[in-house]
Order: sequence, then structure tokens, then C-alpha cells
Amino acid sequence: YDLTPHNTFGIKASCSRFVEFGSVDELRDVIAGLTKADDPLLVLGGGSNLLLTADYPGTVLHSAIRGIVPSDDGDSVLVRVGSGEDWDGFVGTCVANGWYGAENLSLIPGEVGASAVQNIGAYGVEAKDLIYEVEAVSLADGSLERFNNADCEYAYRHSRFKGEWAGRYVITHVTYRLGKQFRPHLDYGNIRAELQKRGIVVPTAGQLRQVVIDIRNAKLPDPKVTGNAGSFFMNPVVDRQCYDGLAALYPGMPHYTVDSNHEKIPAGWLIEQCGWKGKALGRAGVHGRQALVLVNLGGASGSDVVRLCETIRHDVNEKFGIMLKPEVNIR
Ligand code: EPU
Repeated sequence: YDLTPHNTFGIKASCSRFVEFGSVDELRDVIAGLTKADDPLLVLGGGSNLLLTADYPGTVLHSAIRGIVPSDDGDSVLVRVGSGEDWDGFVGTCVANGWYGAENLSLIPGEVGASAVQNIGAYGVEAKDLIYEVEAVSLADGSLERFNNADCEYAYRHSRFKGEWAGRYVITHVTYRLGKQFRPHLDYGNIRAELQKRGIVVPTAGQLRQVVIDIRNAKLPDPKVTGNAGSFFMNPVVDRQCYDGLAALYPGMPHYTVDSNHEKIPAGWLIEQCGWKGKALGRAGVHGRQALVLVNLGGASGSDVVRLCETIRHDVNEKFGIMLKPEVNIR
């Protein structure tokens, strides 16, 4: 089964078996029918955070569970979404219905199930700020479990589904808590400046969504045109001592304060400082407008991208003493 259309990097690869399910019952039937021959299992969403380095030797499970169902909850709206819904389609539905809070997460590629695994984030908002509950089926026995926000132990691009629970559950629904009042988050980066360029001081949710879409389109390559998986690395969080040392050497270094003892440094800046922006190694490249994004220049293999990734990690470590961690799931 061809996985090429199922990974936004556009890497040519296949898997032994590809199984889609459209409901919790269908998923349970699939799980009950799995045998040793199906191992290993990979749960795949939109394939927008995946780098395949070889054919996948086992079975790929994909959610086709749809549905966006709101219920009133006083000042907020609880919206239960099928894990197979397209993420940005969901954000669009929220904005259109006056369910507020997800605007800054517009145009992130992928599906709703992965949003709760990966804690996707952009422009000062993370999925964890909005997630109320996650429903998942256990691969061990087909039982349905519900997790509240705290259960998932969310952190920057992380959750228990990625950590200790990796490989244990298939997410079927995510319930988001959205506001009835629009309270825009405009403080990140150039959001406010981009709105002002359009003559907007107090945006509507639709205007904020549009500005985010425009910023992303201007900086990030369209995976339909150039294969990529968004940010390839996580932004490293360093302690105060490390930060102070680097800030003395590089006075213009951008940074975001995490807490009193930690600073986050944009990996894109570190990579650009190493001279990699817009450069290539074989058929894998570094995007010219955002150095954190590695791209498939056409016909790249997973190993081409891994080679570029390792070379960049080596160079950044040489220069800054920071070992970047891939954000993309490398298989
Ligand atoms: N920068 C450079 N050169 C570059 C890229 C960035 O110097 O080539 C510096 C600039 O100073 C810029 C700063 O880094 O102001 C931050 O850049 P940007 O706003 O583009 O964000 P980022 O930190 O590189 C993170 C997320 C993105 C998300 C943006 C916006 C991670 C790993 N990435 O990138 O998420 O869209 O913030 O919030 O945290 C993704 O995860 O796939 C993703 C695209």
C-alpha cells in the first residue's frame, strides 16, 4: 500500500496494510481482528509530522471519524470533534460559528487526532489551552477511555500520548472548549504589525484567522507544492546560565522567556546563523524563508532528509553547544 500521498514530505514509501475506521465500533472491530502479522502498528493522521526513512513493515491505522458537535456550557461551548476531521477545517468551522480561541492555530496541516497528541501550537496559542477531553480506544483490549486535560500532561509539543503512552491508544474524539466571547491573542511576533498593515486595530476572529493564514502562506512552503513537515526541530529550551552566555556572544539573539530560569531560542535562528537557510544537501533542503523547515526538493528519500538533519544538528551543536531535537516523527 502506497504511503506517498499520506506523508506531506512526499517521501516514496509503502506499508504492508492500511486500515481506515469511521467510528469507534469500526475501530474496535479492527483492533479485535489484528494479528501478530499486522505488527508493528502506526497510527497516522494527516502525515504532516512524519518522516519515513523506509517502507513501513506493519499496519497503518487511519481515523476517518468525522463530526463537529457543539454543546452549550455557559460562557463556553464544548465542541466534540472526530479525530479524522481536518484541523484547519475545524478551525474554520469554529470561527464561522462564533466559537472562539483557535484562530491562531489556523492553517496548521494535519488532523484533529494528532492535535491532541502533539499539542500543536502557533502564534502564542497551543492546543492544550483549549482541550477539554480526549477519547481514545486502547489497542490492548479495545476499551474506550476518557482523559481530561490534566491527565494528558501537556507540555511544549508533548503529551503522554507521545511519551509513556506511545503506541497504547488510538484517539477517536477530542473535545475542545471554546469561548463565546472573542478574546484575541495578538502579542506573538508580527501578528499585531500585520493587522496594522491592513488598517486593523481590533480584529474580528475572521480577520485574525486570515492574518495568520497570510503569515503562514508567506513563510511556510505549501506541502502540496514542496514536500515538508512544518518545523523539523523543536525550539530548544535552555537554562539561564546557558542563555546568558549565548546572549553575551550574540546580542541580537531572539528568545522567548519560558520561566524565571529558562529561555526558548528559535531553532530557525540557530540554523540560519550556521549558514543553512536556503541551502541543500542532495535532494533535501532548508527552506529559504524559514530555516526551521526542511524540504523535499523533489525525489528526496527519507535518508536524504535524515542526513541533512544530522548535519544541521552537528553544526548547531558545534557553534552554540545546543543539540536540536527533531519535532518530526522519524520512522
Ligand atoms: N528566525 C530566524 N530565521 C529563520 C526562522 C526564524 O532568525 O529562518 C527567528 C526570527 O527571529 C523569528 C523567530 O525565529 O522572529 C521565530 O520565528 P517564527 O515566528 O517563524 O516561529 P518559530 O519559533 O520558528 C514556531 C513553531 C511553528 C509556529 C511558529 C509560530 C516550533 C517548533 N515551531 O516556529 O510551528 O508556526 O512558532 O508560532 O515551535 C510546527 O510546529 O510545525 C510549526 C510550524
